Amino acid sequence: MDLVAAARRAREQAIAPFSNFRVGAALETTDGTIITGCNIENATYGLTICAERVAVFKALSEGHRTFTRLALVVDMPTPTPPCGACRQILWEFGGNLEILLANLIEEKGRHWLEDLLPLPFDARLL
Ligand code: THU
Repeated sequence: MDLVAAARRAREQAIAPFSNFRVGAALETTDGTIITGCNIENATYGLTICAERVAVFKALSEGHRTFTRLALVVDMPTPTPPCGACRQILWEFGGNLEILLANLIEEKGRHWLEDLLPLPFDARLL
C-alpha cells in the first residue's frame, strides 16, 4: 500500500466527535516501514492529539528513529497542512521530511518541512 493510501485508511479510525474533522497520517521510516496515526479528540477538547503526532509517537515508541516522508489526508477539497505544534514535533523527530497532502480522491501537493517551519527552534540551539 502506498503512503497516501495508508493515511486514508488510518483516517477511518479517527475519533473526532467534536469537530467531525477526521484526519489520517502515514509516516514512512527510512527502511520503508509505514506507521499510521489518526486524530483523537476527547471531552476536554484541549487534550486532543493530531494524527501526525499520533503517528510520530507510535513510531518512536516502537523504536523507529529516522523518517523520510509523511502523508496527511482529510476529506476536503483544500488539503490540510500540519498544525504548528505538529510541525515542531515532526521537525525535531523527523527532520526535513517531505509532506504529502491529499484528500480521498487525489494528492494535492508536496512540501518540504523546512519550508513549512522556517527558522525552527530545536536542540541545536540549547
Ligand atoms: N488535526 C489534525 O489531526 N492534524 C492537523 O494537522 C490539523 C488538525 C485535527 C485536530 C482536531 O481533532 C481536528 O483536526 C480539528 O482541528
